[in-house]
Amino acid sequence: MSFDLVFFGGTGDLTWRKLMPALFQAFRHGKLPAGGRILAVARDEQSDDKYRAWLKDRFQEVEGAKRPTDEEFARFADMLHYRRMDLSQPEHYAKLKTWLEERNADTAVLYLATSPHLFPQICEQLGVAGLNTPRIRVVLEKPLGHDLKSAQEINRVVRSVFSETQAFRIDHYLGKPSVQNLMALRFGNALFEPLWRRESIANIQITLAEAIGVGTRGDFYDRTGALRDMVQNHALQLLTMIAMEPPSRNDADAIRDEKLKVLRSLKPFTEESVGRDVVRGQYRAGTAGGQPVVGYSQEVKVPAGSQCETFVALRTEVQNWRWAGVPFYLRTGKRLAARDAQIVVNFRPTPHSIFPGHNQPNKLVINLQPEDGLELHLLAAKGTGQQEQLAPVSLDLDFDKAFAENRVGAYERLLLDAIAGRLNLFVRSDEQEQAWRWVEPILDAWSKDTTGPRPYAAGTWGPAAASALVARDGFAWSEEQ
Ligand code: BG6
Repeated sequence: MSFDLVFFGGTGDLTWRKLMPALFQAFRHGKLPAGGRILAVARDEQSDDKYRAWLKDRFQEVEGAKRPTDEEFARFADMLHYRRMDLSQPEHYAKLKTWLEERNADTAVLYLATSPHLFPQICEQLGVAGLNTPRIRVVLEKPLGHDLKSAQEINRVVRSVFSETQAFRIDHYLGKPSVQNLMALRFGNALFEPLWRRESIANIQITLAEAIGVGTRGDFYDRTGALRDMVQNHALQLLTMIAMEPPSRNDADAIRDEKLKVLRSLKPFTEESVGRDVVRGQYRAGTAGGQPVVGYSQEVKVPAGSQCETFVALRTEVQNWRWAGVPFYLRTGKRLAARDAQIVVNFRPTPHSIFPGHNQPNKLVINLQPEDGLELHLLAAKGTGQQEQLAPVSLDLDFDKAFAENRVGAYERLLLDAIAGRLNLFVRSDEQEQAWRWVEPILDAWSKDTTGPRPYAAGTWGPAAASALVARDGFAWSEEQ
């Protein structure tokens, strides 16, 4: 299959930090269909060779094992091209069309790795240029909008130019291998399904913790905040994967229909429940990896006195027969104690214990980061006779080790899916809008509440109120159990 892949925002951070390295991995693993062309477009005037040299330099900043050798880069660079493009100029789109028609590849994937406020303009111009024929796909990078209204406006324009099956809205968390495993675990095995419900599960916790701060993205982040940056998309997408009903087929719409139902079943927030069930925080000075670090408001390009949240913890429920009354706790933040992304399914304790003092409930931990794997926590007998006791043990599946040769990073996987036209792991517009609809009352309540985010020291697990939120139901976050 022949393909052309065009990156709008070809000199931007996302392109060189994530997309090109992912594409290079696909190339190195022999997964990129042969004979494709990759075109970066951006504002500056430069030759293909200059762009290649620039990108080669950028690759020096990529994690060691993922860096190409000179010989590998030379082969990869053969596919790379660069064109200057002013996104407001219709004739530049016409030139892009000519470039794409030189070869008429089976598919042309147009990846919008630009600031999202440009999406409507780019899509409209693509439509005017006739760059929306069925072989063309458009990939839209998050954040898709700032609120429901802006997301709807982007979707309106995208839909006026492309059909839904041509629109690939990326949420890179869906490309993480553990999310694939979650699908396999739930729908490829009979073991868990009977237990996957309110009768057996006490609560579910989704933690997306980062140890890094906002780095150089202060201006973007300050307009965004953790709720829009991580909860509206990544955390909610994981929640849908955990809570959805078994889809009837392994196809994009069957899966996305079920995910949408979950989003529609989430308990709506009111001003009162936001105050009770949502905790927002902002990091102050503290430590990261043993080194002192500054607080959020001292970060570069962050305005003094900013009220932007760098941490959110919330409690919600999925209001349907399977999940009624089961708390789902979501938590994410920057400058937390560790980089740790996991989903913890806490089962209910045994109804009657014959081992006094030992009634530790089972839990299933799906680790997304830093390692990718699955742990099933059980109790087992330890010692003999009078000394016999129960001790916690865990069945530990390390997918990184088990399937080392087949591990594919999130962006690599999603880029290959976009080229192949597989939509299963991309977000449909109605899902995305429903997620905005659900988070909006939180944004509204915060905009009226002048107390602002609660402070927490960098290097901790966030404000104490986040622990209290879970403790109120008689539970504890995973690291406190
Ligand atoms: C991005 C957010 O979507 O996800 C970033 O904009 C965040 O703020 C990143 O750091 C986290 O992704 P990962 O894959 O490193 O956990």
